[in-house]
Amino acid sequence: MSNKIQTLSGYIHEYQKSVLQPEEFWGRIAESFHWKKHWDSVMEWDFEKPDVKWFVNGKVNITENILDRHLFTIGDRKAIIWEANEPGEATVELTYRELYEKVCQFSNAMKANGVGKGDRVIIYMPMVPEAAIAMLACARIGAIHSVVFAGFSATSLADRINDCQAKMVLTSDGNFRGSKAIPVKAVVDDALKSCTTVEKVIVLKRTGTDVSMKSGLDMWWHDAIEGQALSCPAEVMDSEDVLYILYTSGSTGKPKGVVHTVGGYMVYTYYTFLNVFQYTAGDVFWCTADVGWVTGHSYIVYGPLLAGATTLMFEGVPTYPKPNRFWQIIDKYKVNQFYTAPTAIRALQAYGLDIIEPFDLSSLKVIGSVGEPINEEAWHWYHSHIGKGNCPLVDTWWQTETGGIMISAIAGITPTKPAFASLPLPGIQPIIVDAEGKELKGNNVEGNLCIKFPWPSMLRTTWGDHERCRQTYFSTYKGMYFTGDGAKRDHDGYIRILGRVDDVINVSGHRMGTAEIENAINEHPKVIESAVVGYPHDVKGQGIYAYVICDMEGRTEANLKDEIRLTVANIIGPIAKPDKIQIVPGLPKTRSGKIMRRILRKVASNDLGNMGDTSTLLDPDVVQAIIETADTAS
Ligand code: WTA
Repeated sequence: MSNKIQTLSGYIHEYQKSVLQPEEFWGRIAESFHWKKHWDSVMEWDFEKPDVKWFVNGKVNITENILDRHLFTIGDRKAIIWEANEPGEATVELTYRELYEKVCQFSNAMKANGVGKGDRVIIYMPMVPEAAIAMLACARIGAIHSVVFAGFSATSLADRINDCQAKMVLTSDGNFRGSKAIPVKAVVDDALKSCTTVEKVIVLKRTGTDVSMKSGLDMWWHDAIEGQALSCPAEVMDSEDVLYILYTSGSTGKPKGVVHTVGGYMVYTYYTFLNVFQYTAGDVFWCTADVGWVTGHSYIVYGPLLAGATTLMFEGVPTYPKPNRFWQIIDKYKVNQFYTAPTAIRALQAYGLDIIEPFDLSSLKVIGSVGEPINEEAWHWYHSHIGKGNCPLVDTWWQTETGGIMISAIAGITPTKPAFASLPLPGIQPIIVDAEGKELKGNNVEGNLCIKFPWPSMLRTTWGDHERCRQTYFSTYKGMYFTGDGAKRDHDGYIRILGRVDDVINVSGHRMGTAEIENAINEHPKVIESAVVGYPHDVKGQGIYAYVICDMEGRTEANLKDEIRLTVANIIGPIAKPDKIQIVPGLPKTRSGKIMRRILRKVASNDLGNMGDTSTLLDPDVVQAIIETADTAS
C-alpha cells in the first residue's frame, strides 16, 4: 500500500487509524525501509520521565535508506542540484550514485582521522553539497553531527563544541554570501582557543581566502579524501542511537542541544516530505533554508533524499545579485515544490511584480511556508504571484524539537486557509489547553498548544542534561509535550499558530531567546542591566527591542548603541543584533525584582494606550520615563 495520501477521505482515514492504532499505522510505514534487524515493538513511551522509543531494538542505518537502497533503482537520478552564490558559476549535480560515492569516500576520510561511532562532529559550513555529504558521512559511520549555522560567532561555536565535546570540526576557508566572502576558518580558529576536545579540523576550499593551517590539527578536505575508497560499510545503528544534535534557543540559559535519534526521525521526515509536498518521482524540490537550521536537516537533506527526490541547494541569498534570484532559480531548474520562510516572501514582495514577470514559474506545483506565522497579506501575495493562484500553499508548523512538520495542509488534498497551519498530520495529536492545563475541547478556542501523544521524530532529550528537557517540555502540563506556542482552533476546526508564549522571539524565522540576547548585551562594560522583547516588524516578523540601563560616562548614545550591537554580534552572531536600543533610566520591576515584560512589550509595539495595572511596580514613574523616550519609528 502506498504511503502517500491521495484523497481527502484518505487523509481522514489515515488520521483516524494513526490515532486508534498508532503502532500498526507507523509500523506499516516503517516497513518501507531497509532494516538490518526488525524492531521488537513499534514504540514505548512515558512523558513523565520523559522516555520515548520508536522501533525498539530495530537496527538500521539511515544512509543505507538514502543511498544503497536507491543505487539500483534510481542511481542515475539527480540527488542534489547545487546553485552557487554567483549566478555565473557552474551548477553541480550529483546523482544518487555519485552521492553514494562521495559520502562513502568522506566517511572513510573521517574514520582515517579518528572519528567513529558516537563521536561528535561539528559542521560549520556554507551551503555547498559537501555540507550534506558531511552530514550523511557522519550518519554512515555512526558519528553524531551537530551543524552550527555558519553565521554564529566564535563564542557561540565554542559553546556548542564544548557542550557536546566534539572531536572534529568540518568547515571551509570562507563562505560566499551575497557580495561578501566570510572568513569562517578564522572564526573556527578563534573558537578553538577555548576548546580542548577537538582533534582535527577538515577544511573545504571554497573561497580561496588565505587561512592558517596548523599542522597536526588542520587538514584540507581534498587531502583528506585523497585515495579513500568509494565504498564504506554502513555502521549498524540502533533505532534509538543518536543521529544528531541541533542547538536551539529557549527562554532561559544557553541554547540547548536537541537530540534526534535514527529510526523515528527517518520514518517521520520521509513520510511528511512525501505527503505534505505530494512529491512525485522526478520532481525537483527546493527548500531555501540553511542546513544550520532544522528545516535544512529535515527538508533539504534527510526527508527528500529518503524519498529519492532531487533536492536543490542554494548557496546564496535571495537578493543577490538582484532580488529576483529565487524566481530565476525556479525557472532555471524547473522547480516543482518551493519551500521558504514568510520573512523572505515579505522582503521580496517589496520589490514589486515586475521582477517576477520575466520568469516562467509554471513548473511549480506546491509552495510552502515555514518558520513563523505567515500573515494574510503575505499569504495572498505568495499564493497569487508565485503560485499563480493554482498551487496549494502549505503553511507548515513545526519545531526543531518536533523533527518534522506537525500541523500543515497536505498539498492539494486537504483544504488551506490563509494564515492557518490548518490540520494535524496523521500521527499528531495536538491539543489546546488553558493556563491550568485543562484541555479546551471543541472549536472556537484559544490557548497553549501541546501534543498529547508521541510521534516518531520527537526530541528524545537535550544533550547532557535530560532534566532540562523534562522541565522545558514535559513539566508545564502533566503528561503532555508543551510547544511554547499559543494557538487557536477556529469554528471550522482549523488551527492557527499565534506565536510564542514564552520568552523566545522569532526574528526572520530564527529562534532567539531574549535571555540569551540580554546576557550578551550585559557583557558590554558600560551596560548595567538590560531587558529584551520582541515587537512586530514588517519584514522580519519580529524585531529585537532592547532596553538598556547604562553608565553613559565618556559615551554618546549613538556610539554606545553601536558598541552594544557589535558586542551582541561578537557573542552570538549578527542575526541577534537588536533592531532598536533604548537607553532607559530604569526598568519596570515588581517589588520582588521581576521585570514586567508585558509593559516593555507594549511600549516596543507602540501600544501606549493602556499599560494595565502598574501598582505592583517598585517605581511606577519609570514607565512614564520609558514611554517618553521610546523608539517608535517603524
Ligand atoms: C515558529 C522551525 C507559525 C513557532 C521549523 C515554533 C511557526 C518555532 C511556523 C520553531 C508556522 C514555525 N506558523 N509559527 N508555520 N513554523 N513556527 O525550532 O513559534 O526554528 O515554535 O523550527 O517557529 O522554530 P524552529
